Amino acid sequence: MDNTRRDFIKTSVLAAGALTFGLPGKAKAVSEYPYVLPSLLYSFNALEPHIDALTMEIHHDKHHKTYIDKLNAALEKFPDYQTKGLQDLFEQISLLPDELKVAVRNHGGGHWNHSFFWQLLSPENTLPSATLIDAFNKSFGSMDQLKAAMSKSGLSVFGSGWVWLIVTAEKELKIVTTSNQNNPLMRDAVDKGTPILAIDVWEHAYYLKYQNKRNEYLDGIWNVINWKRVSELYF
Ligand SMILES: [Fe+2]
Repeated sequence: MDNTRRDFIKTSVLAAGALTFGLPGKAKAVSEYPYVLPSLLYSFNALEPHIDALTMEIHHDKHHKTYIDKLNAALEKFPDYQTKGLQDLFEQISLLPDELKVAVRNHGGGHWNHSFFWQLLSPENTLPSATLIDAFNKSFGSMDQLKAAMSKSGLSVFGSGWVWLIVTAEKELKIVTTSNQNNPLMRDAVDKGTPILAIDVWEHAYYLKYQNKRNEYLDGIWNVINWKRVSELYF
């Protein structure tokens, strides 16, 4: 990637963060229809060696963009739903027209989940807030135990999906998994809650570098988690 593009990506950091999720502390809807691909907060190679540049480029520019294109194409036929935010559509997903329901689940989920995920990665060394560390200690014993439990859950996902750290309605931290592009904000989620951390365990997130070794990807990713952002999302 040339310097111009790298600079563009860098200067897009604040704008992307603000527009995509609104104020810190709330996992807000991802912009509005027609949805657009959010800029990354860092260059494709910034997360090396833990996540390689080619994986990041294909993951962001191809996979994520495809979810957006297909979501927009589906919503084109349903103008009444174009003005609703994605989170509203997730909230009423089981009530949507069948054709739209599938598109919102797969492509809307794909857009929201990836937009969320990009913000949770960083090449910089960051630490959780004291409040979040305290919550980790209370809920999981320690931050290391939280990481180990999330990695183990990520490994347990059969096929494609995500592992999440959510805040439940009872304000408790909980590790949950979803298949495909489902997420804990969807009305029919088995474990509902507000995500503060997510790890993509689709093969497209790691296969070029790690091949079948999802466990090594799940070990490596802890080196590039943006704990500052996770802390902002915890409330
Ligand atoms: Fe992905």
